[in-house]
Amino acid sequence: MIQRQAALDMLAENKTPASLLQHALASEVIMRALAVRFGENEDLWGLTGLLHDLDYPTTAENPARHGLDTADILAGKLPEEALTAIRAHNAEMNGASAPACRFDYALRCGETVTGLISAAALMRPTGMEGMEVKSIKKKMKDKAFAASVCRDNIRQCAEAGLELDEFLALSIEAMRTHSAELGLSK
Ligand SMILES: [Fe+2]
Repeated sequence: MIQRQAALDMLAENKTPASLLQHALASEVIMRALAVRFGENEDLWGLTGLLHDLDYPTTAENPARHGLDTADILAGKLPEEALTAIRAHNAEMNGASAPACRFDYALRCGETVTGLISAAALMRPTGMEGMEVKSIKKKMKDKAFAASVCRDNIRQCAEAGLELDEFLALSIEAMRTHSAELGLSK
């Protein structure tokens, strides 16, 4: 399996812009926390979160390839279950099989919730500090807030095996712990 530094180098080589790198790092810390929660492979889940949007700089205009190209690039570098989860995270657009197992659903809900939590942190005077589950739940109901973030994907945490409250608490805590690296500390 690829090492973390090599994964970061690949993101740099693929010209990952700063905002996308922040999303990748946030997805990584949430996936690591989910792996710990479920007793799964923390490095595998973390690397999958970190690399899931690797192709985005070249597929943003071609969503039918988003996820498929990343899986092709990472063949042999990550196990097949990770490539399947990466394809499935954009299944609606790329025609791959829909999420079907805990790992697939974890990537879907984990990578999606980063957008909501980051947007909320940027609006708060204290950043991630003191952020509560109930305020993120309120933002989920406010369709105008971070409107591009798919609420249904976040709710798929249920398919991964977590109630929404626990999933949000785990995600907030993971991003709070790493708020400096994520550019979210005040
Ligand atoms: Fe993503």
